[in-house]
Parts: sequence; C-alpha cells; structure tokens
Amino acid sequence: MHIRKLTPKENPPWELLELADPSRMIVEGYIKSSCVYVGEILGEIVGVYVLKETEKVVVEIMNVAVHEDQQGKGLGKQLISHAINEASKQGYARIEIGTGNSSIYQLKLYQQCGFRIVSVDFDYFTRSYDEPIYENGLLCRDMIRLCRTFES
Ligand SMILES: CC(C)(COP(=O)(O)OP(=O)(O)OC[C@H]1O[C@@H](n2cnc3c(N)ncnc32)[C@H](O)[C@@H]1OP(=O)(O)O)[C@@H](O)C(=O)NCCC(=O)NCCS
Repeated sequence: MHIRKLTPKENPPWELLELADPSRMIVEGYIKSSCVYVGEILGEIVGVYVLKETEKVVVEIMNVAVHEDQQGKGLGKQLISHAINEASKQGYARIEIGTGNSSIYQLKLYQQCGFRIVSVDFDYFTRSYDEPIYENGLLCRDMIRLCRTFES
C-alpha cells in the first residue's frame, strides 16, 4: 500500500471516513484544519487517516479506516505506523488517539503500535451522538484516550 497526503483539490474519501465516525457533521468540523492521508493499492484508495494538530507539540490521529474488503491484512497497522512516523518527522512531541470503550480490537491495535491509555472521557459518545452506538455487544459510551510520546 502506498500512503500519501491528499491534495487540497481532492475530495476526502467520505465512505471510508464514515466507517470510523458515522457523523459527517463532526468530521466536517475538523477535517478542513487537518491533513488527510490516503493509502492506495493499484491507484485505488483503500485506507485513510486524518492528522490534526491539537496543541503546538501534539497531534491526534482521527478517522483511521480501512475498506471492509481489505481489513485484517495489516493495512490498519501500516496506516498507524505511517502516522507515527509523520508526527515524529514533523517534530511533534506526542501523538494521541481516541476510541470507544466498545472498540476492543482498535484498543488492541493501538496498544500494539505503542500507545498507552492515558485518560477516559466519560459519556463522550452518549453526549455527542444522537443515536446509540453498539459494537461487540457493548454500548459505546466512553472515549478511551491513548498517547505515544517521542524521544527528543
Ligand atoms: C480499525 C481498522 C482501521 C484496523 O485495520 P485493519 O487493516 O483491519 O487492521 P490490521 O489488519 O492492521 O490489524 C491490526 C491488529 O488489530 C486487530 N484488529 C483490528 N481490528 C480488528 C477487528 N475488527 N477484528 C479483529 N481484529 C482486529 C488484529 O487482530 C491485528 O492484530 P494482530 O496483528 O495481532 O493480528 C479497521 O478494522 C477499520 O477500518 N475499522 C472500521 C473503522 C474504525 O473502527 N476505525 C477506528 C475508529 S477508533
């Protein structure tokens, strides 16, 4: 998979972005002030992630997603590794990511990529989304926040 930054002239891959966050309104709220990266195989976009600066030295990975047909082949791990390298290259001190309490496989993936749980935003999802979200037989209520720091 070849990963590159989307140019401002290109449309974001909404179908993929909505796999990670069902609320287009929430994504539209931060996408313009973020960088969108896409992963391509034979010229077709199969993965995406968004990198958003949240503080001067902190960047957050948002909306990491892999096309359903391509999941489970290591592409998600490649996208996260790419985001970590980008953030480090760009001189950030810390990279963060957030996911739901019900996203148990994502929690596994992020910890495999060196992230550690740092906090919980209780009731974030029940507060921010109109419809309840269920995943793996669990109500998605709380945002688990993870971070990875870089050696300076
Ligand atoms: C989360 C996501 C990006 C992972 O991408 P992927 O290409 O399927 O992940 P990988 O193949 O790189 O797997 C990495 C690890 O995560 C685990 N994993 C991730 N998602 C999983 C799932 N749905 N079911 C089982 N295992 C999963 C795998 O077990 C794997 O661990 P291993 O290397 O020990 O086998 C992808 O499943 C996706 O797009 N999901 C929908 C959008 C989403 O939920 N985004 C995250 C929002 S917080």
